[in-house]
Amino acid sequence: MNRLAITLAAAAALGLASAASAKGNAESGKAKAAQLCAACHGADGAKPSAPDQPILAGQYYDYLVQVLGDYKSGNRSNAIMKGFAAALSKKDIEDLAAWFASQKSALHFQR
Ligand code: HEC
Repeated sequence: MNRLAITLAAAAALGLASAASAKGNAESGKAKAAQLCAACHGADGAKPSAPDQPILAGQYYDYLVQVLGDYKSGNRSNAIMKGFAAALSKKDIEDLAAWFASQKSALHFQR
């Protein structure tokens, strides 16, 4: 029984780990954001340096992945973001989305 419990716990832990990596790695995203995105969107995505640069902090992970893919493919057209998105791999996009989605901003309702 003990052995079974350990096996189940290990399987559950592995399952969680793979679910986390399927959503991108926020720590890697943080480093990439500091290099590539911070100048316009802010390091945590909460304080853009100009009003036409959107707040990324607290946006939905799935939305951020989708829109970065759309800039890359040209589905959403913006000359500035096309250039930045074009340089990102699928993993970069997932990591950046995980980072920005996990940050707090004024987009969150304060209760
Ligand atoms: C030179 C300034 C600049 C840099 C650097 C920059 N962006 Fe942007 N970003 C913008 C602007 C301007 C927009 C609004 C474009 C539009 O209207 O579609 C934007 C839009 C976005 C959006 C869409 C947000 C929304 O609410 O729809 C995402 C996501 C995004 N940027 C992510 C990033 C990421 C990730 C990086 C780093 C790899 C980055 N940006 C680097 C200027 C920048």
